[in-house]
Amino acid sequence: MPNHIKEVAIQDIPDIASDTVDKLRKLKITSVYQLAVQSPPELAMEIGDTFIDVESAARLIAIARKILTENDTLSKEFMIADDLLEKRNKITRHATGSEKFDAFLNGGFETQAITEIAGEFGSGKSQICQALCAAAITLLENDRLDIRMTQRAPASIIFIDTENTFRANRVHQIAEQKNLDPEDILKRIYHCNVYSSEQLEVLIDDLPKFIEQYNTKLVIVDSIISLHRAEFSGRGTLADRQQRLGKMLNKLRRYADVYDIAIVITNQVVSYADISHPGFEYMKAAGGNVVAHGSTYRVFLRKSGKNRVATMEDSPCQPHQRVKFTISEGGIQDANSYKTEEESNSAW
Ligand code: GTP
Ligand code: MG
Repeated sequence: MPNHIKEVAIQDIPDIASDTVDKLRKLKITSVYQLAVQSPPELAMEIGDTFIDVESAARLIAIARKILTENDTLSKEFMIADDLLEKRNKITRHATGSEKFDAFLNGGFETQAITEIAGEFGSGKSQICQALCAAAITLLENDRLDIRMTQRAPASIIFIDTENTFRANRVHQIAEQKNLDPEDILKRIYHCNVYSSEQLEVLIDDLPKFIEQYNTKLVIVDSIISLHRAEFSGRGTLADRQQRLGKMLNKLRRYADVYDIAIVITNQVVSYADISHPGFEYMKAAGGNVVAHGSTYRVFLRKSGKNRVATMEDSPCQPHQRVKFTISEGGIQDANSYKTEEESNSAW
């Protein structure tokens, strides 16, 4: 949550009935932040036997959002563009330590946004995530001030790993190569292995609690789709899968906004036959429109010899652009520069 805001507990909401506080606590909702990220049908449904109807749920959420708006934590329904610019200027970026790759991201992975990294196997998705863990320099720098001024836990990263590919020793190695403090960084990463789509959905439901407890600034989900893709593989299950994916992304978007955190998700690819070039295939990010619309930034990776090429497929503020990088002991690094523009273009 934003550092300058004092946490407001549920019971401190003006005029809230004590039985409503009890009901919310049963749902493990204890702060205004946790209430503000709910959606009315979810809140009403989950309460089950201790019934809160959709209208009451909507009213409670609206009160929570109003408190956060008055605190300047959340934006108002309508904002003057001037204020919007000021809000944007406050956005933090988490760098990877690769100069060109960070420049490609306008400085790093942005807070209040979901950045999707899609690409085929071995294209570097998990390596980028681990490099990001190691090099979240802005996180550490901002935090020194924060710890001195508040009683908060040190800023942290939550790493949700659905493919069991996170390696603490790899993060240690990257941090060491970048002359950062590996021990400090590893202490700030909360890693969780997830084995089923249901477990992932429950974890994403519960994330607000952990984001507050661990003072999290960056959430990484590597990958958002693999479990759902494996478990909902038949044609008849596609609609269900997409709906579940959509719900998760919707929640993540709300968390990014309310808690002012960066969310990075990885995505797999699907191959299609290229009708205009028989015998050839092309790749697209999996998850269809649900993932496409759920992400703020979409980065697509492909292999290019020993290098990797990242393309910005969708961004609200950047042109379609590419950057080349390599994976090395030091994480992700700028690819060797080419002598001429021509050489560079022919090597993409
Ligand atoms: P999937 O999860 O299988 O879809 O792939 P991914 O896109 O997550 O690939 P990942 O990020 O795991 O990249 C794997 C590639 O990174 C390997 O094929 C290696 O080429 C490279 N790599 C991993 N670790 C190192 C390392 O320590 N040094 C170097 N030079 N390359 C590495
Ligand atoms: Mg991977």
